[in-house]
Amino acid sequence: MTDALVILGAGVMGTGIATLALVHGTPVTLVDTTEEALTAARRTIAKGQRMAQLMGAAPEGVKPAELTTSVDLAEALAARPVLAVIEAITEDAALKAEVLGRVAVAVKPGTPVVTNTSSIPIDELADAVARPEDLLGVHFMNPSYLISTVELARGRRTGDAAEQAAVRVLESWRRKVIVVSDAPGFVTSRLLHPMINNAARVVQEGTASVSEVDALMQGCLGHPTGPLRTADLIGIDNLVDSLRVLHERTGDESCRPCELLLSKVRDGHFGRKTGRGFYEYGDALS
Ligand SMILES: NC(=O)c1ccc[n+]([C@@H]2O[C@H](COP(=O)([O-])OP(=O)(O)OC[C@H]3O[C@@H](n4cnc5c(N)ncnc54)[C@H](O)[C@@H]3O)[C@@H](O)[C@H]2O)c1
Repeated sequence: MTDALVILGAGVMGTGIATLALVHGTPVTLVDTTEEALTAARRTIAKGQRMAQLMGAAPEGVKPAELTTSVDLAEALAARPVLAVIEAITEDAALKAEVLGRVAVAVKPGTPVVTNTSSIPIDELADAVARPEDLLGVHFMNPSYLISTVELARGRRTGDAAEQAAVRVLESWRRKVIVVSDAPGFVTSRLLHPMINNAARVVQEGTASVSEVDALMQGCLGHPTGPLRTADLIGIDNLVDSLRVLHERTGDESCRPCELLLSKVRDGHFGRKTGRGFYEYGDALS
């Protein structure tokens, strides 16, 4: 039986990473807390697989692998040999620590345990796991099956074997891996998230509209989608969680989530996934 990749969390990132693995022929077991989330995830992944094919992001001649879903973490880890575990649950340090702790005692020593956290330092999460040498961060971007570069964050206690095993898997999916040191937000969130927060603040202060901010960042500075459309793609709820993590751990005031972002979260306007954020979308993803 081929080893399966176990992915925890069937949201924006879990479904994107599952799509990436499946189109490259890696079987996936996807775990979430409700059957409803997993049913929605199956639809999103089917759409993602079609998109990956259309965009030339799925290798030719590879049969897409089998997707299994489960609401039972222990059962999912015991059902078949595990290639690696990728945790992509809500950006909450206590919740991640609890779940990673359970994973670490259930998998064979030497199995890479990967967190897709945006901002929580790997070494902080390593305190919760039985074998910190098997834990590392792989920060996929969204959509993971279209963005071919990934940021791999090595914690202070991450072992060479886990890093090399993770790199082998990522390269088999044709990802370009950039290895960085551990820090709140690593490189990409440390730079991108305060920038988006400041873009929202500019709108909040009345300097420019949402579309003007994005048009200027795209047209003058070459940003591919504009920071506020990017916020919608990330999920404003997740962005605010990540900014809080960054603010708490760095003290950097540019990371304190601004009122406009907080009000969007209060109103349930999370972006692309709810059909409305800074922009409106015809087809909500959840
Ligand atoms: N959205 C992005 O663009 C992006 C990019 C890179 C990294 N990340 C990180 O990836 C992680 C997931 O983000 P997301 O945007 O997919 O969030 P999301 O809110 O879309 O999905 C999170 C999922 O985790 C599930 N979940 C929560 N607790 C769980 C548990 N105990 N067991 C199993 N599933 C559980 C939730 O039900 C939900 O379906 C976060 O750490 C986030 O910071 C997000």
